[in-house]
Formats: sequence, C-alpha cells, structure tokens
Amino acid sequence: MTLSSYRKLVCMCVVAMLTTVSMSETQVSSKDGVVNKLVIYVDKGKDVIAPEIYGHFAEHLGRCIYEGFWVGEDSPIPNVRGIRKDVIEALRKLDIPVLRWPGGCFADEYHWKEGIGPRAQRPSMINTHWGMVTETNAFGTHEFLDLCEQLGCEAYIAGNVGSGTVEEMQDWVEYMTLDGDSEMANLRRKNGRDKPWRVKYFGVGNENWGCGGNMTAEYYADLYNRFQTYVRNYSGNRIIKVACGPGSVNYNWIKVVMQRCHRHMDAISLHHYVRGTGNWTHKGSATEFDEKEWIALMKNTLFIHELLEKNIEIMDRYDPRQRIGLYVDEWGTWWDSEPNTNPGFLYQQNTLRDAVSAGIFFNAFNEHCYRVRMANIAQTNNVLQAMTLTKGEKMIVTPTYHVFEMYKVHQGGTYLPSDLTCNAYRYEGQEVQSLSASASRDKSGKIYITICNLDTKMPAKLDCELLGVKPKSISGRVLTAERMNTHNTFEQPDAVTPKELSGIKVQGEKVLTTLPPKSVVLLTIE
Ligand code: AHR
Repeated sequence: MTLSSYRKLVCMCVVAMLTTVSMSETQVSSKDGVVNKLVIYVDKGKDVIAPEIYGHFAEHLGRCIYEGFWVGEDSPIPNVRGIRKDVIEALRKLDIPVLRWPGGCFADEYHWKEGIGPRAQRPSMINTHWGMVTETNAFGTHEFLDLCEQLGCEAYIAGNVGSGTVEEMQDWVEYMTLDGDSEMANLRRKNGRDKPWRVKYFGVGNENWGCGGNMTAEYYADLYNRFQTYVRNYSGNRIIKVACGPGSVNYNWIKVVMQRCHRHMDAISLHHYVRGTGNWTHKGSATEFDEKEWIALMKNTLFIHELLEKNIEIMDRYDPRQRIGLYVDEWGTWWDSEPNTNPGFLYQQNTLRDAVSAGIFFNAFNEHCYRVRMANIAQTNNVLQAMTLTKGEKMIVTPTYHVFEMYKVHQGGTYLPSDLTCNAYRYEGQEVQSLSASASRDKSGKIYITICNLDTKMPAKLDCELLGVKPKSISGRVLTAERMNTHNTFEQPDAVTPKELSGIKVQGEKVLTTLPPKSVVLLTIE
C-alpha cells in the first residue's frame, strides 16, 4: 500500500465514524507490467452523483458571453432572441444541469440594474478584470435566464459582495423571483417578464480573498452572514445559498468560513485550476508542449483527490452530518492565451491533454459525490477549458466537450465504490498512477465505467470485476488521438472525436479490455 492510500484509509476510518465516505481505493503497483484491475462493488452503492457535478460557468470575460452565446437579435448568425443557435444546439447534447453567471471576478463589480430594461438605454461600464474592454450590458438578467431556459438548465447566480450593497443583492433576488406586488416585481413586469423565474442557486460573492475584495476570511465571514440574511425565498422559490470558499490550498479560509457561517449556508465553493510545469506568469502553451508538461498536468490534476479530502475533513468538523455541499464552481486547465489574442480574454485551445485531465477531475468528483454536489467547468465558450470555440459564424467543439458528452451518463446515477490497482506511469523522474476510474449505475440498472489512461505510450490491459453481476452486453467508446496535442480546429473540426472501442471481452463477472495510451474510455454494461 502506498503512503497516500494508507493515509486515505486512516482518514476514512476516522471520518466514517461520523459521516458517509466513499470506500474507493487506488493502489499503484510497484512492479511494472501487471494487469490492471478494477473491482467494482456493484451492490455497495449508496450515494447519488448529483447531475450538477457536470455543471458549467460562463462569465463576462473575453468572448464567452459576447459572441460565444450572445450575438444579438439582428445578427446574421442564426439566433433565438439574440442567443446563437449553433452553440445551444451543441450544448444541449451535454444535458447541462446548471450554469453559473455572471462571474468570476466580474460578479463583484457587476451591478445588475445596469443590465435590465431597453438595451439601447443600458449604461456601459469598463470590465476592469478582463481586458479593460467596454461592457455594454446588452446581456443581463433577462438574457441570462432566457439562456438557461434555452439550455434547459438551472440558474446559478453569483452576487456582488465586493463592490455591491446588501440592498442591491436583496433587490436582485426579489426582481427575479417574487410573484407578488412590489417595486422590483413590477419593474420586472415592465421589462417584459410577467411570471418570476426559478433561481435555484445564489452565490454570495466570488473569490473574496482575491479579486472579490481582498478580504480576510474573518471579514468575509461576517459579510457573508449579513448579506445572506437578505437573500430571501419568495413565492415558493427555495434558494440554495453558496458561500465563497478557498482557491486551491487555503485551508484556513474554509475553516474560518465554515466555523462562523455553517448555519447560514447550503454550500461552500472551491476553485481549482491546473497547469503543467509552468507558473502563473508562464503557464505554458495549450498546444505546444512535451511529455514533461503532460505528466506534470496529470499529477496536478490528481491532486484534486487530496484537495477534496482535506477540505471535506475540515467541513466535517463543523457539519458532521454533511448537510452542506462542496461546490467546485470553477475548475479546469489554464494555459497562456493563444498568440495574437487579447491576453485579458483567456482564449486557449484545447487538446487531448485537456480531455484526459477533465476525465480525471470527473472521476474524482464522482468518488467524492457524498460531499461534492456541484462542479462548474471554467468556462463554457471561448475562455479557458471551453466546450465550444467560435470564430464569427463558425463553431467547433473541443475534446473536453466530448468528455462531458461521454460522462453525462453518470448524472443522477448511484456511485459504485471500486478498488483500482494499476501500473505506475513514469517520465523523467516523475511518477503518477497510470489509470483513473469511476463507476455508476443508473435507475434502469445499466453500469457505466469511465477510465482514463494517463500514460502516453503504454496501452493498459484492464480486468474489471463486477462483483455480483454477470454482464449480458457491453459496449465501449474511446476518445484518443495520435498525438498528445491533437486538437480540433476550424479546418479540422473532428480531429478528436469519440470512436467505438473494440475488443472488449466478457468472462463471467469480468470484463476484459485494453485502453489505448492517452485515452478516455466509457464502458456501458447491461
Ligand atoms: O475563470 C476565470 C477567473 O478565474 C474567474 O473570474 C475568477 O473567479 C478566477 O480567478
């Protein structure tokens, strides 16, 4: 047993006395060339994988909202009430459960009243975080909630604590959700929406330790308690209140906020961005990288397991019954912006490397679904680890999009604990586990296993043992490509797309398969 799995086991024994934990284990074999083994405890599943783990995030940043979603009603690009059709059509295939908006850092300088009413009369502002460009406010509350309706998803709004007021936040909730007779509800009616919307999630601030006001944890905790008081439930709308949590490793922040605010929150956020060997000044190219940078990204991504466990351990101290959700409401890869683009727009390409990283993230979120009840990739279009990239009227989908499409089968399923024993993947002194996996069962009894092979050269033979189940039929899909950096372009939009995985065999309760190097695989078993 490795040191980290021993630590995990000890931690699990301690916490299990009070709480629910997933019983999955990963062991990396010290010998090379062993057959990798995944044992799935089919009858031991009890936690549901919240569909919201497959959520999204769209900020007023670069071309995410403007061009990515919003083209305006008069645009030659086909649209429904100003929202482009091609992007909606592509995203609907992902069954997006929830969309977070308007930021990000932008949330704490956004004044929602500037984004309602006739568009020609809306004041403009400067987007000081993202490129100092003029924000026209053409896309505001009505447009966002229309977008959620077109996508068929829940709305998650991030409110302004950094530069906003309590009154402004209270008014916003009333404007969107009150069915009665009030100044805000009547203003909404005047602006063309009679019935209130349902707003399920509301974040009280964003990254308030940084771009959202540079606060201490203690100061934010006091503000959180005050602001959230006025985030009211109107007309049968029940809001899930989300407190601002840490960015990557900041255990003191979550400790203080949990300690002081746990009675007044339903969830707390966690942000985690990953890159390869670079630093924040030189994060590395999204497309031009070597294997050293590949394995570094895999290692940094796998760190999500430790990060989740340590944050959950702190949450358990103040919320032992696990009422409060941990929402990883910003996650993904962050590379240098593409050459010749505005660096403040965070536009990056997306390769097979990003896809494998996304698969690892999802396997970790699934494994911790007893506490991780939402995750939102940053960001949906044209920014960071995007699903869709646009160039004027053209649109392509990325390798990460395909991972979302393959993994959507886990949404709402029962998480199945498993033990994984796998070879190590090594490169120039760095070592990580070669595989990452998770499994779930849906209401009809179908079992889904998602596995990533992190190794760039070695195919992985895998024996899956489904304890108590003799598979009747099995199918597989695989996302891989010839090179580590293969990506879809406007000229070659299908360079990375899922294909059928052949050669899967069934032997009693076992499924035998081989995963190509650097791949993401979905097995469906009936
Ligand atoms: O997603 C880009 C930015 O990253 C967000 O605005 C902010 O919350 C985070 O630092």
